Amino acid sequence: MRDTAPMLGYNSTSYGTGFADVYDDWYGDVTDVAATVSRMVGLVGLVDPAGPVLELGAGTGRLAIPLAQAGLGVTAIDSSQEMLDRLHALDADGSVTVLHGDMVKDLPDGPFAAALIAYNTIFNLLDNGAQQACFSAVAARLAPDGVFVVEAFVPELDTLAGSDVSVRSMAVDRVVLSVSQTTPSSQQGTSPSSRVLSHRRVPSVRSRARATPEQLDAMATAAGLVLDARHADMAGTPFDSESTQHVSVYRRLTG
Ligand SMILES: C[S@@+](CC[C@H](N)C(=O)[O-])C[C@H]1O[C@@H](n2cnc3c(N)ncnc32)[C@H](O)[C@@H]1O
Repeated sequence: MRDTAPMLGYNSTSYGTGFADVYDDWYGDVTDVAATVSRMVGLVGLVDPAGPVLELGAGTGRLAIPLAQAGLGVTAIDSSQEMLDRLHALDADGSVTVLHGDMVKDLPDGPFAAALIAYNTIFNLLDNGAQQACFSAVAARLAPDGVFVVEAFVPELDTLAGSDVSVRSMAVDRVVLSVSQTTPSSQQGTSPSSRVLSHRRVPSVRSRARATPEQLDAMATAAGLVLDARHADMAGTPFDSESTQHVSVYRRLTG
């Protein structure tokens, strides 16, 4: 077997180029959609029951569409037209307002009752400066008491060095591998994934600046937000030192 596509250097459209055609198949259940909807409806209800809600890096609408179907006004922004094409195809009713753009520079005017950046998408911003800019841009668009919900994995700083290969899923006609290589000093990692379909292999690359929860808290503070709650998942499992994921709710204080 030989590569039929070159490894891609990462930019904000790389994710969609590598994953749009398989995203919902591979990642459809990667986080708990029902719990996400329930959590967001609950949070938004404390600010303004109708929302609106802004989802950053919304991709194919895996979360944005169910959120809209739950009655929230949802605006979804993504830099990949390929991912958004899938969203349009899945959202036949046009229930989601869609923006093609960058989740730092191109955010729409608010105010939003809530903003959501799910499933490690904050790490698709390649350095801590861009992540800080994202926090600041979101904070400026939140209504008073509005919340920014960040779902991300917890980097294991002491064991980050090296590479890892694991089987994400396996079927008769397909093996999906997750491959990562990380340099701990910079918290930078690349995560190519390979899809093997008959004689076709499609590699893609993402780079990540893996901020810890504490680093994200510092970015939120600098943006004028305060940590309101942190759990291990959207269902509200308590967060502790063993947690591998976190769902952090940052609130813009009134006045
Ligand atoms: C891990 S996927 C998550 C998609 C969706 N939020 C979900 O949970 O299924 C990350 C998404 O972020 C988008 N993305 C990456 N960099 C971006 C940027 N700078 N601005 C907007 N979207 C970006 C990608 O195109 C991709 O759709």
